[in-house]
Amino acid sequence: MPTVYNTIPRFTKQRPRCSSPPPLLRNHPLHNCGGGVLRKQDRGGEKCYSIPMEERILSGIRPSSRLHIGNYLGAIKQWIELQNLSRSFFMIADLHAITTPYDPATFPQAVKDVALDYLAAGLDHHKATLFVQSHIPEHVELAWLFSTITPVGELNRMTQYKEKGEGKTSANLGLLAYPVLMAADILIYKATGVPVGEDQVQHVELARVIARKFNAKHGATFPEPKAILSHGKRIMSLTEPTKKMSKSDGGGIQLDDSPEVIKKKVMKAVTGTKGGDGNPGVMNLFALLKEFSDATTYRQFMNAEETSTIKYSELKSQIAEDIARHFESFRTRRAELAGNNRYLEEVLSEGTKEARSVAKKTLEEVKKKMGLI
Ligand code: ADP
Ligand code: TRP
Repeated sequence: MPTVYNTIPRFTKQRPRCSSPPPLLRNHPLHNCGGGVLRKQDRGGEKCYSIPMEERILSGIRPSSRLHIGNYLGAIKQWIELQNLSRSFFMIADLHAITTPYDPATFPQAVKDVALDYLAAGLDHHKATLFVQSHIPEHVELAWLFSTITPVGELNRMTQYKEKGEGKTSANLGLLAYPVLMAADILIYKATGVPVGEDQVQHVELARVIARKFNAKHGATFPEPKAILSHGKRIMSLTEPTKKMSKSDGGGIQLDDSPEVIKKKVMKAVTGTKGGDGNPGVMNLFALLKEFSDATTYRQFMNAEETSTIKYSELKSQIAEDIARHFESFRTRRAELAGNNRYLEEVLSEGTKEARSVAKKTLEEVKKKMGLI
């Protein structure tokens, strides 16, 4: 018998403005890479998602520092496309951010900064629900309920926990329980798609395990969410190209860096002397060129690389220029929004109302099924 989720919340948010799939999406069957991962396709230069309209999307980013172009390419860029196609929830994962050292004095501004980045990048509160994770206390309550069905062994083997916590005296329970809260974030909205970078796929897998366990124990309640990956791989650090570009990476390009700062950072990128596949710095620069420059420019530099006539300083200048141009309107819009605190507060409070009404219903359903009165 097919599983019927007859309690999927009815969303109050208006449907995204495009009520039928845009041309790019027509005739593309759902592309399932297996293992709960949907990958954005790159067909002959034409990028498309193969995601049906009825998908529900949730994702978030920790406000642990200013957002960088890795966050943009790995996550936000696809959120902006997805908000037109599916019912979407995008949050600022402040409760996850406090599992690692942070400064309570500057934290409120860090949360606002991410909200401003979301809006300036193109997330639209008319299309998607935008909110701060800690404003919806139901996430934490659901996480506790899920913790009673989550094997500790599964948490111990999470790569992020191993890197950040395992064996360290500073390791806290929140760091170990991190993926359980993430599962609650996702499942409380009965999300089916979670657009994230590759490093978060393991956590989404755990959300699937939790959904499966809950459904087996208490009856069909949650869909099993899939990670949605952008076709681009992870963007690496410019100065240490064997590590991913991250918020703690001083050389990471922030979304609102000025053209001068972008140039300075890109010119410092490590390339080494040997080109080709074996050189992670050069490969990373080509990944950036592919994302931010046009196809002709990309081909020209690729040819020069293949014939060993390339000048890396020219490659870097081109990339810096194209990144700066790409984020030109972002910088203007962000500066405008930063001067309008009231607008930001209104957007987030509207998001809280919308998200909370959905979250409350799911939590009620879960508690009832678990025998809590
Ligand atoms: P950071 O590592 O900078 O703290 P997060 O872990 O908060 O970033 O990640 C936020 C989102 O951005 C996640 O979906 C993550 O997979 C994606 N992401 C982070 N860094 C990169 C990167 N260098 N390349 C591609 N995607 C990234
Ligand atoms: N853990 C994610 C990260 O570090 C942020 C996050 C928290 C998230 N909850 C989520 C992402 C739910 C997707 C879905 O990037």
